[in-house]
Amino acid sequence: MSGAYSEFLEATIQHLESLKRGGRRYVEVSRETLELLTAKPGRPPLPVSAPRVAPSVPPQVAKTVTPAPLPVATIAPIPPLASRSKEVEMAELEARAKTCVKCPNLANSRRNVVFGVGDINASLMFVGEAPGMEEDEQGEPFVGRAGQLLTKIIQTMGLDRQSVYIANILKCRPDTPAQTTGNRKPKPEEMQNCTPYLNAQIDLIKPKVIVALGGSAVEGLFGNAPVRITQLRGQYTQFRGIPVMQTYHPSYLLRPNPVNVKRQVWEDMLQVLEKLGLPISEKQRGFFLAKS
Ligand code: URA
Repeated sequence: MSGAYSEFLEATIQHLESLKRGGRRYVEVSRETLELLTAKPGRPPLPVSAPRVAPSVPPQVAKTVTPAPLPVATIAPIPPLASRSKEVEMAELEARAKTCVKCPNLANSRRNVVFGVGDINASLMFVGEAPGMEEDEQGEPFVGRAGQLLTKIIQTMGLDRQSVYIANILKCRPDTPAQTTGNRKPKPEEMQNCTPYLNAQIDLIKPKVIVALGGSAVEGLFGNAPVRITQLRGQYTQFRGIPVMQTYHPSYLLRPNPVNVKRQVWEDMLQVLEKLGLPISEKQRGFFLAKS
């Protein structure tokens, strides 16, 4: 058994045991996954709907045997190898992230590991800082107030949350033991522990453009000293050859800011649309421009 396989198996077992401890009796498994799980290691899985090999019988008997009718195909057709392996690899990565205890304080305090959401074949990927309270509760990134604003930005670009991919530098909510509300910035060691998951997500998705939302996203991606997003916003940099647009975090737009900050973020998004070769209407070009 390969190291990676046994590591994944161990992570899956731990995850299932933690669900069991939490009172879960059943888990939903897709037919395709079930088929993969029941395949013998090292051999390609046999599609259940494929004709079965008849038991070995003398040929003269075999001629007269009418095979019992096979059940109507109960297993969905297996997608082509390339797309299946990408999905499986992402699922393995998610299972590993979900049992991660590299930051024991975060593993203890989290309700959910917030892995990421969206299309694993997306051209555009948004990277934020870390889950907040709502994200921790729901297990999905950017669902709180800042998230709703991000969703609006994505829609104003003519896209939707399902067609892009959204993830964070940290997959766990930073704990705040001394306070009952509010968030805190991820610590450098937490970012170092967690960014291998994000890097692996980026390597699998291979987006055409990444949008780094706020200074922590830039710091986490590049492992740099603290950055000033006010100086970087609107500029492209590169991560593993992929253009990264640096812009403000949507939570910054929720503060009482002059309208010009909204326009700045919007101009950054127009640059992203241009880089992706997507159409931009005159109406889109004019958003948040001060009326004369
Ligand atoms: N802020 C982030 O950076 N990420 C989230 O998922 C939510 C809020």
